[in-house]
Amino acid sequence: MINFIPEEKVQEILERVSIEQIISRYVSLRQQGQNYLGLCPFHNEKTPSFSVNPSKGLFYCFGCGVGGNVFTFIMKAENYTFAEAAEFLASQAGILLADNKLIKKADKEKNYLIDINTLAQKYYHYLLVESSKGKKALEYLEKRGISSNTIKEFGIGYSLDDWESLINFMKKRNVSLSKLEQVGLISPSSGNNSGYYDRFRGRIIFPIYNLNGLVIGFGGRIIDDTLKAPKYLNSPETKIFQKSKLLYGMNIARDEVRRKDLVILVEGYMDVIAAHQKGIKNTVASLGTAFTADQARMLKRYTDNVVIAYDADEAGQEAALRGLSILHENGCKIKILTLPEKSDPDDYIRKHGPEKFIHSIKNQAVPLIEYKLRIAIQKNNPDALEGKKKILDFIIGDLVEINSLVEREYYLRLISSKLGVTEQVIAAEIGKYSKRLQNIGANRDKKVIVRNNSKEKYLFGESVQYRVERFLAKYILENPQKIDWFQESVGLHLFQVSKFRFLIASLIKYIEDNEISDRFNFKAFMLTLPEESQSILSQLLNTNEDTYSLNDCVYIIKNNWYKTQIENLKKEISAAEECDQREVVDSLVLNLIQLQREWKK
Ligand code: GTP
Ligand code: MN
Repeated sequence: MINFIPEEKVQEILERVSIEQIISRYVSLRQQGQNYLGLCPFHNEKTPSFSVNPSKGLFYCFGCGVGGNVFTFIMKAENYTFAEAAEFLASQAGILLADNKLIKKADKEKNYLIDINTLAQKYYHYLLVESSKGKKALEYLEKRGISSNTIKEFGIGYSLDDWESLINFMKKRNVSLSKLEQVGLISPSSGNNSGYYDRFRGRIIFPIYNLNGLVIGFGGRIIDDTLKAPKYLNSPETKIFQKSKLLYGMNIARDEVRRKDLVILVEGYMDVIAAHQKGIKNTVASLGTAFTADQARMLKRYTDNVVIAYDADEAGQEAALRGLSILHENGCKIKILTLPEKSDPDDYIRKHGPEKFIHSIKNQAVPLIEYKLRIAIQKNNPDALEGKKKILDFIIGDLVEINSLVEREYYLRLISSKLGVTEQVIAAEIGKYSKRLQNIGANRDKKVIVRNNSKEKYLFGESVQYRVERFLAKYILENPQKIDWFQESVGLHLFQVSKFRFLIASLIKYIEDNEISDRFNFKAFMLTLPEESQSILSQLLNTNEDTYSLNDCVYIIKNNWYKTQIENLKKEISAAEECDQREVVDSLVLNLIQLQREWKK
């Protein structure tokens, strides 16, 4: 029971710390009624949907759905365990945790696992650089141009081609088998004497460090590529090693990333090592896995600018596209460098030198749309009608999002020249598409088509607007006496989901027709509804998906309405500008200013 904190201590902490004070160190909050609002620290957003309720001691983000109490917040914000969060909060509140020992024990255990890794790293490193047994591995690295300095800097090692050499080494240092298993260095077996065998055998070992430069895991590469074994083997997920949350090389790259305000994202260990060796120190790797939002957020602590330089193969391309959307959703500015066929950054730097690589990063990396256009053209024939349509389909969602007229013109020209379609036609297609999006927005029924980058507004395929409307509809249908409040402070015209709008409209009508005094006859009301709405209603009353405060509902619904109106107006203004209709532009701008003023109120 390492994480055990006595319940009364938890209560004491909850009573003594003020959630809005703790959170306001991370988020700038402004008061809104009983709550506080700010920009969510857990996802990227431009308008505040993060709300703190001091009287309940809770926070909730309407954008990404995270929520909880002050413990949950600190655990997420600092990546702490519950016990660590408790210790942190207790110290803030000046509470002595009688069970400090238990917390220390959790820390201690993690530290111990790191100690074991550090010891293993030294052992592997020794075998590579000092033992004759590591000669083949050392030659391999030399052949690949890795200098002895680099080997030292990255702590690279070698694991003997032997089933129990690490086990035996650790035994002499009194490290237990169960701890070795916990840290993923050995695996249970049925055959051997000890019942365990070394995970890494006959492999070059790349230690993986956390941001503080501590060894949390390993990757191992085979030396002989003709072997049938997997090329790389990594530590399994452990208490201290979570692959989806780390970026290889970040511990040594982060200062340079900040200085250059740019990170170069590559796929593999060898790419990072080669780049760093040649002085390109703002390079990190996602280690061949799908890029995650956690990784995007880690990058964003240091820079918004990302150049993706993945391998030139199909897998690299796919990975780049996936990574792109995650980075885009998290608000990064992305460019993609396409390397010549069959090469990765490591090959490229070795062949052409670091200057050429940096030059390509600066001059040949292209923004998202251009990259997608290029891929689409590779996959479809731009000379055939069908191909032209498919290519345009692939990028139109991104084209719609371009607000800058200059940029829009640039892409219209580019696409027009590549597809042999006039700019006017492409512009018209963009207009059509954006109308369609607005229509979807207007009758946002059922689950919604999720646009590439608007993840912020969507939760598991349901927009926040949808959720808030559902909650409000349920609330009003359960509390019909609140209908006057609803009409005054929200108003049906702000509802975008037609089935909810219909239910409430029916309720309003029913109340008017029947002059309900005190008792509302729910069954009778239900019978006035068409069958489809009856089932929607019963489904609604039986869901218990979200709880929002009424104030928040009003805020979100109004906010969304203004946002949509403003966005639409802006689009109209650009369109009018494009056609040089000065007077129209002027009057629309006046409308816009008016709307923005109302919104701020
Ligand atoms: P070299 O082939 O030595 O140049 O390594 P690389 O770093 O260029 O590797 P590659 O581009 O083939 O793969 C990119 C990354 O994906 C590697 O660094 C690994 O993290 C991961 N990877 C590649 N192959 C495997 C594998 O067989 N198993 C696992 N688990 N990961 C792999
Ligand atoms: Mn490679």
